[in-house]
Amino acid sequence: MIATGPTTKDIQPTPQIKKNSAGIRLWHWLNAIVISGSLLTVLLHSTLMNTRQNAAVIKDQLKEAGATVTDDQARHAAHELSDSVWAAHTWIGYGLVALVVFRLLLEFFQVADQKFLRSLKRLYQQYKDTKENREQARHDFWVKTLYAMFYLMIITQAITGLCLAFEDDVPALKAIHAFREIHSFNMYLILGFICLHLGGVYWAERKNKPGIVSDMINGGQE
Ligand code: HEM
Ligand code: HEM
Repeated sequence: MIATGPTTKDIQPTPQIKKNSAGIRLWHWLNAIVISGSLLTVLLHSTLMNTRQNAAVIKDQLKEAGATVTDDQARHAAHELSDSVWAAHTWIGYGLVALVVFRLLLEFFQVADQKFLRSLKRLYQQYKDTKENREQARHDFWVKTLYAMFYLMIITQAITGLCLAFEDDVPALKAIHAFREIHSFNMYLILGFICLHLGGVYWAERKNKPGIVSDMINGGQE
């Protein structure tokens, strides 16, 4: 008898599209590390590297050792210490700027289904059109919108950060004080996003999307 069905040679496994591409996963975890590093420098600056407290410590310690320094000299030494924290913050910031550029470029190289704006539009359509599971469709759309807002925050932080980093070289930048205020205020928005995000991911993992975190590690399936 002649076999007519497909042979194993004919059946080629269709390549599975991962839920999260390798690029987005790499970006996600590097971004989480770099942002945490950046926040840590801000925390260090306002705690252990506090200029006023350190100036008093330096002055007392030198006094005990038999050397006398003026308040100004002690403050100057303490200021140098806190400046080194800002230097670290700025270098980490350049890393973050590189990651922002990487994320924007990645959008052009993702396969169609993995493109951010495309899936935001798709979720909006689902939310508008679907009658069943409307709650879930609405939730998914708002989660994606929150990510879009985060991308705007991080782009703003990169631009204002670069303006602060180069204000000594470009006098026109020095005159615009708003950069510093936007940069500081935006930090609270980013902190808000991180809290919501971590809470949301934990909740999704426990409730309706088990495996969501491992999908961000190994890619998962669409
Ligand atoms: C500074 C910390 C973090 C930031 C700024 C951050 C940011 C983001 C962003 C922007 C996305 C959306 C990616 C996209 O679709 O374009 C995302 C997705 C995700 N993140 Fe994070 N993340 C952070 C930490 C974490 C941590 C610690 C975990 C796990 C414990 C985590 C788990 C996830 C998961 C599971 C997704 C996919 C969620 C989904 O499919 O809707 N993230 N994150
Ligand atoms: C999550 C990201 C970031 C956070 C939370 C953050 C937070 C902050 C905060 C709170 C300040 C103090 C502002 C003030 O004096 O009131 C600051 C200063 C600064 N940031 Fe950032 N920043 C981030 C990213 C960046 C990036 C991407 C750059 C770009 C290189 C950057 C460069 C700077 C510079 C140059 C200063 C001024 C330091 C000084 O006064 O000498 N930051 N940042």
